[in-house]
Amino acid sequence: MSLHVHRHIAELRSQLNRLRSEGKRIACVPTMGNLHEGHLQLIRLAKEQADLVVATIFVNRLQFGLNEDWDQYPRTFEADCSKLDAEQCDYLFFPDETEMYPNGMDEQTRVVAPSMTDVLCGASRPGHFEGVTTVVSKLFNIVQPHVAVFGRKDFQQLAIIRRMVADLCIPVEIVGAPVARDSDGLALSSRNAYITEQERPNANQLYQTLCWLRDQVQQGQRDYRTLETAGARRIEKAGFRPDYLSIANAQTLQPAVDDDTDLAILGALFTSRARLIDNVTLTL
Ligand code: PAJ
Repeated sequence: MSLHVHRHIAELRSQLNRLRSEGKRIACVPTMGNLHEGHLQLIRLAKEQADLVVATIFVNRLQFGLNEDWDQYPRTFEADCSKLDAEQCDYLFFPDETEMYPNGMDEQTRVVAPSMTDVLCGASRPGHFEGVTTVVSKLFNIVQPHVAVFGRKDFQQLAIIRRMVADLCIPVEIVGAPVARDSDGLALSSRNAYITEQERPNANQLYQTLCWLRDQVQQGQRDYRTLETAGARRIEKAGFRPDYLSIANAQTLQPAVDDDTDLAILGALFTSRARLIDNVTLTL
């Protein structure tokens, strides 16, 4: 195996410092593991962007709510290493919690992004994005990459990370990668493992509804709030509980108004055991 696995910050840093001083361009791909084709596409894109790719796997408890699935989250280290190695990923940073939060999570200095974190996923997952921005800024300081790749599947996360990097003048270029989907349109996600066999045939309903909303807007419908309600009804009819559906300004994530031309249509729903998210974008 040519993948180098490091569990400690100091070790990884000394390796990367040497390579950086040789002029190598470094890309970072942060993940929580249980890697699927969506993650592997990020690795491939990262390889195009840099000489060396550093993937990270850390199931960051700080971004999980108390009633969420941190303890059940699938951990598949051996399989993940094989997949990364097959993609010729160079380094994997795989710290444990004491390496990342040596003073405990309560004592950890936090990075808090502005209002964008309270809407959409942030509304139903209070504190989630604070956990994300805190861990991602730590990972950026540990790896010190030139470029980092994130999926557009987590559209709000990507927007918040871009904002954090701009606001804190972090010298990392952020690259967004397209959403990887199953053949029926369902966005790939580690949490798809929680979808039951009975639910699976309809699980692409979120994507279908987002596409339907996009078609309606493209055909000239501008009553966005009515469209959102109609979309939620479609999701309920398919047997799922909608969390939110929002036709939003793609930059601010605020509900879109008439003048907006760059739109993101974002949604989340609950299956019996999972919460799924997805989005599509369009320019008017
Ligand atoms: P995780 O859910 O493991 O996702 C890691 C990266 O893979 C994120 O950038 C995410 O957007 C991307 N990704 C996941 N599914 C994708 C898909 N179907 N298509 C394209 N990209 C996809 O997101 C996180 O971890 C964490 O919040 C993290 C950023 C690592 C911070 O802990």
